[in-house]
Amino acid sequence: MERNLSLSMITMATHCLLLCLVVAATAAASNDITTDQQALLALKDHITYDPTNHFAHNWTLNTSVCTWIGITCDVNNHEVTALDISQFNLQGTIPPQLGNLSSLTTLNLSHNKLFGNIPSSIYTMHTLKFLDFTDNQLSGSVSSFVFNMSSILDIRLTNNRLSSELPKNICNYLPYLKALFLDKNMFHGKISSALSKCKQLQQLNLQFNNLSGAIPKEIGNLTMLKGIDLGYNKLHGEIPHEIANLRNLEALVLGMNNLVGMVSATIFNMSTLKVIILINNSLSGSLPSRIDLSLPNVEHLNLALNRFSGTIPSSITNASKLTFLELGGNTFSGFIPNTIGNLRNLEWLNLANNSLTSSTSKLSFLSSLANCKKLRFLNLIGNPLNGFLPSSIGNLSMSLKTLLIANCSIIGNIPRAIGNLSNLLILTLEGNKLTGPIPITFGRLQKLQGLYLPFNKLVGSIPDELCHLTRLAELVLLGNKLSGSIHSCLSNLTSLRSLYVGSNRFTSVIPSTFWSLKDILFFDFSSNFLVGPLSLDIGNLKVLVRINLSKNNLSGDIPATIGGLKDLQFMDLAYNRLEGPIPESFGDLTSLEVLNFSKNKISGSIPTSMEKLIYLRELNLSFNKLEGEIPSGGIFTNFTAESFMGNELLCGLPNLQVQPCKLSKPRTEHKLGKNILLFVIVLPLSIALTIAITLALKSKLIECGKRSTVLSNDGVLSSQATLRRFSYLELLQATDNFAENNIIGIGGFGSVYRARLEDGMKIAIKVFHRQCASALKSFEAECEVLKNIRHRNLIKVISSYSNNDFKALVLEYMSNGSLEDWLHSSNYELNIFQRLNIMIDVASALEYLHFDHSTPIIHCDLKPSNVLLDENMVAHLSDFGIAKLLSGEDESTMQTKTLATIGYMAPGRTVVWLQAKKSNYTKRI
Ligand SMILES: *[C@@H]1O[C@H](CO)[C@@H](O)[C@H](O)[C@H]1NC(C)=O
Ligand SMILES: *[C@@H]1O[C@H](CO)[C@@H](O)[C@H](O)[C@H]1NC(C)=O
Ligand SMILES: *[C@@H]1O[C@H](CO)[C@@H](O)[C@H](O)[C@H]1NC(C)=O
Ligand SMILES: *[C@@H]1O[C@H](CO)[C@@H](O)[C@H](O)[C@H]1NC(C)=O
Ligand SMILES: *[C@@H]1O[C@H](CO)[C@@H](O)[C@H](O)[C@H]1NC(C)=O
Ligand SMILES: *[C@@H]1O[C@H](CO)[C@@H](O)[C@H](O)[C@H]1NC(C)=O
Ligand SMILES: *[C@@H]1O[C@H](CO)[C@@H](O)[C@H](O)[C@H]1NC(C)=O
Repeated sequence: MERNLSLSMITMATHCLLLCLVVAATAAASNDITTDQQALLALKDHITYDPTNHFAHNWTLNTSVCTWIGITCDVNNHEVTALDISQFNLQGTIPPQLGNLSSLTTLNLSHNKLFGNIPSSIYTMHTLKFLDFTDNQLSGSVSSFVFNMSSILDIRLTNNRLSSELPKNICNYLPYLKALFLDKNMFHGKISSALSKCKQLQQLNLQFNNLSGAIPKEIGNLTMLKGIDLGYNKLHGEIPHEIANLRNLEALVLGMNNLVGMVSATIFNMSTLKVIILINNSLSGSLPSRIDLSLPNVEHLNLALNRFSGTIPSSITNASKLTFLELGGNTFSGFIPNTIGNLRNLEWLNLANNSLTSSTSKLSFLSSLANCKKLRFLNLIGNPLNGFLPSSIGNLSMSLKTLLIANCSIIGNIPRAIGNLSNLLILTLEGNKLTGPIPITFGRLQKLQGLYLPFNKLVGSIPDELCHLTRLAELVLLGNKLSGSIHSCLSNLTSLRSLYVGSNRFTSVIPSTFWSLKDILFFDFSSNFLVGPLSLDIGNLKVLVRINLSKNNLSGDIPATIGGLKDLQFMDLAYNRLEGPIPESFGDLTSLEVLNFSKNKISGSIPTSMEKLIYLRELNLSFNKLEGEIPSGGIFTNFTAESFMGNELLCGLPNLQVQPCKLSKPRTEHKLGKNILLFVIVLPLSIALTIAITLALKSKLIECGKRSTVLSNDGVLSSQATLRRFSYLELLQATDNFAENNIIGIGGFGSVYRARLEDGMKIAIKVFHRQCASALKSFEAECEVLKNIRHRNLIKVISSYSNNDFKALVLEYMSNGSLEDWLHSSNYELNIFQRLNIMIDVASALEYLHFDHSTPIIHCDLKPSNVLLDENMVAHLSDFGIAKLLSGEDESTMQTKTLATIGYMAPGRTVVWLQAKKSNYTKRI
């Protein structure tokens, strides 16, 4: 029994051995393919999302791997040689087993959504020739891996999230590498000189990383290189001249770095170069005079935003392959070659912001460009072309989409022929000296999306034809002399997002149809002569962000529907004739940041609902007829007296320089409150005023300053016997009871009124705020300064008036307003001689103040709004409210304290606003 058992066991063992041998033999034959299968199944396992279901339905075990989609095997179907599952939209990770595909030559996983690290096993696949992981979300470090791919020709890791230092040793064991694409990742560190070990390298692309340091000169040893792309990094230093050794180089792309120095002539002498992109570095040098011979093959030359200088050699017009020419933002000078149109392949020409000009006032080069039938983009912004647009501009290429000729000192009319350029998307003629009307032919520019004609001298009305431009998104006509009415047909511009027609001479009402433009975001009708009320339909502009209607003659109530504009950030309705109350609904303007209602006739109380406007940072309700209590909660804690001045019936906290509220009344008892308010405040006020006037008439003079003031006994004040004397009544009459519409200036310490005396003499009266201690100080300072000085370029004080309630200076009237008005209003313009004279005038005034006077005087607040111009345009310095007299011991400290402000000419708010507007509409250019 035991024997039998052992015998059978031996038999079994023998069988087993045999079986095992057979199995082993079979296994040996299919070893590679099963390993490959396992590796591929591991990959299948790691795919978490497979929208095409290729893995689920096609990569199945009942068919051979060699029939699987994306797999290529060798002729005998023994080994997988290629895995290409690009563009499958797969999500998942790359398993390390993929490195077991021992005969693989192509691994293409590009254009998927694979994430995680690249396993190190991949970098040792010694049969691999093509590795392409482009366009995935792979991350992690690659610097610590050993690259040992003895067959690899092509590595592409473009557009992933790889973030290590650039692997220094990458070229150690990659003897045949021809193409290395590591662009669009987050590699940092320096480009190692060991790169030169990749002797066969033809394509090097490292752009869009964070690489720093210099470009190693050893790059010049990679003599097979055809393309170098290192753009969009932080590379420093100079371009190594060894690059000129690269006799096969076709593309040199180093733009958007911090490179410096002269670009050596040898680099501009590489006849193989087709693409040169050096944009946005600090490179200098000039173009070779025979650029046609030096760079005969150049197609794409981009030197923009550097420090290149010299002329554009006319030989450039023989570089006949040029397609893209970008020289903008350098200091090129001289003429734009008149034969530039010989560049028949030109598609893109950017010469902006240089000092280029034209050899003819007809801008012949522009006519010549009509030969470039492929021209799509033309930018001449910011060159002193000093000519007029030829009508041949209408012969420019039908392909032209963008035409930018702004700030070029162009004179004359806009040629009607521009209307031929029917494929234009953007047209800018901003900031020239164009005259005449907007051509009606513009109506033919059916594809136009942006039309920018601001800051010219265009006249006439907006042609109806503009209403045909149904794709127009931005229409900017600011600062011209356009007149007539705002057409109701503008409502046909249904694509319009921005409409800027401010600072013109439009006289109509805002057409009711306008409010149907429900997608409009920005609009500016300011500084025109628009009349009529604001329509309730303003509430239709649901996405409105900015609205500026200031400085018109709009009247009527403020529509409560404005409260529905949830995105409104900026609203300026100042200087109109709006009346009625601020609607309660203003508390719903939750995005509001700036609100200006100054100089209207708005009445009623300030709604407490506005306390909720948490983003409101500028509020100007000054010079209206508001009354009642200024809300004190929420955002109102941040506003100062300036926001509320000139509303005699407002009451509130003492820091707001209004009367204290006599009784805290419930807001609902509006009418009663109003009456009580009238009784409590207005009546005693007028009594006080009457008493003050009588007192002033009878009492002795109050002196201006402390010293040599002459007192008289007829209720009239004068600091010097020569000064003219005025009674309070005269001042009242002269200013029409200090009527708002006589206010010509508002400062921190008071207001300045225009006034006309009975004898017809025009004067200005500066009234200082009563309750304000600093205003008192300011009055004293100004008295102190002005009483002692006399100069052609200083504002002359005619008289002064002071009693406990009322302090004022009577000044010369300056009929031409302030320098600020002239500088920042498009309705005025100063020529160079006027500007020079004003500068001389101001300098003379300062010289007098600083040196010609016994006590040096520092003005301390020198800015354009304090430089006033008389009828002969002679400048007079004004506003000595914070002037300092330098004397004795504190002279030196005073001087150092104030010197900082002396040289500073405040830019003024108007400019900032204009710039904000400009940047808004020029953003897209
Ligand atoms: C897998 O896809 C390939 C290529 O489209 C096809 O030839 C093969 O028949 C498919 N296999 C299965 C099991 O569907
Ligand atoms: C292969 O297997 C899959 C499931 O694993 C099945 O859906 C498919 O029908 C099978 N194909 C063949 C040809 O047997
Ligand atoms: C990988 O596949 C994409 C298309 O899916 C192709 O454009 C690319 O050239 C391939 N990569 C290599 C190295 O062949
Ligand atoms: C495949 O590779 C993995 C990891 O890279 C390794 O652990 C495994 O032993 C390999 N499998 C085979 C069958 O070679
Ligand atoms: C690199 O090129 C320079 C000449 O430009 C040569 O002197 C140097 O020996 C080369 N280096 C290598 C490693 O080939
Ligand atoms: C504006 O549109 C209306 C209706 O589509 C049309 O009748 C009118 O002619 C258009 N006006 C202009 C000036 O294009
Ligand atoms: C007032 O202004 C300050 C600083 O600008 C700001 O931090 C604060 O939030 C504002 N107060 C209110 C109530 O909004």
